[in-house]
Amino acid sequence: MSNYICRLMQEADLNEVIELVQQAGDFAWSPKNIQESVLSSNDKSFVLSAASGSKNTGIVLGYAVIHTVLDESHLLNIVIKKKAQGKGLGDYLLQQLIDFVKAQNQHLFLLEVRASNSKAIKLYENVGFKRNGIRKAYYPAETGREDAWLYSLSLV
Ligand SMILES: CC(C)(COP(=O)(O)OP(=O)(O)OC[C@H]1O[C@@H](n2cnc3c(N)ncnc32)[C@H](O)[C@@H]1OP(=O)(O)O)[C@@H](O)C(=O)NCCC(=O)NCCS
Repeated sequence: MSNYICRLMQEADLNEVIELVQQAGDFAWSPKNIQESVLSSNDKSFVLSAASGSKNTGIVLGYAVIHTVLDESHLLNIVIKKKAQGKGLGDYLLQQLIDFVKAQNQHLFLLEVRASNSKAIKLYENVGFKRNGIRKAYYPAETGREDAWLYSLSLV
């Protein structure tokens, strides 16, 4: 995975990230959500791209957002470009985010995920997140609503 770099997102990345997010899956964040996060001082937005010298140099392949309150970080979103999914990039990006929050002396990494999102659930459980709660009917779904599963990863 040394062919990839994870860096802070800049406003110049906005159009590429909006396109990536809109194409990656259902219930995507709106362009407004993405823009607000990159401008917010409480959120950190990241992009994953191919390192220089490799095929597709500079192209944004992944996007993630972390929100921090005191010593807790919350993963608000993680998305891998549709065509690049299933190749280990989500795992790599998440590992980079864990390293980042650890380096900030954060104690807990939290997230919530749709109960039906088996790909994301696998990704989170693989790196050690533990399920410790449920919010009933939290998300709008195709028909009705669906539960959110709450996960946490202790960093101490
Ligand atoms: C969830 C997501 C970020 C995962 O990224 P990815 O690059 O595709 O994931 P990886 O290739 O690193 O695979 C991670 C794990 O998920 C598993 N996985 C991949 N595709 C899967 C599928 N269709 N069903 C179940 N598990 C799957 C992989 O097998 C891997 O586990 P393993 O190493 O034990 O085999 C990506 O699919 C995505 O962007 N989805 C749309 C947005 C989204 O739902 N984000 C999460 C919001 S909470």
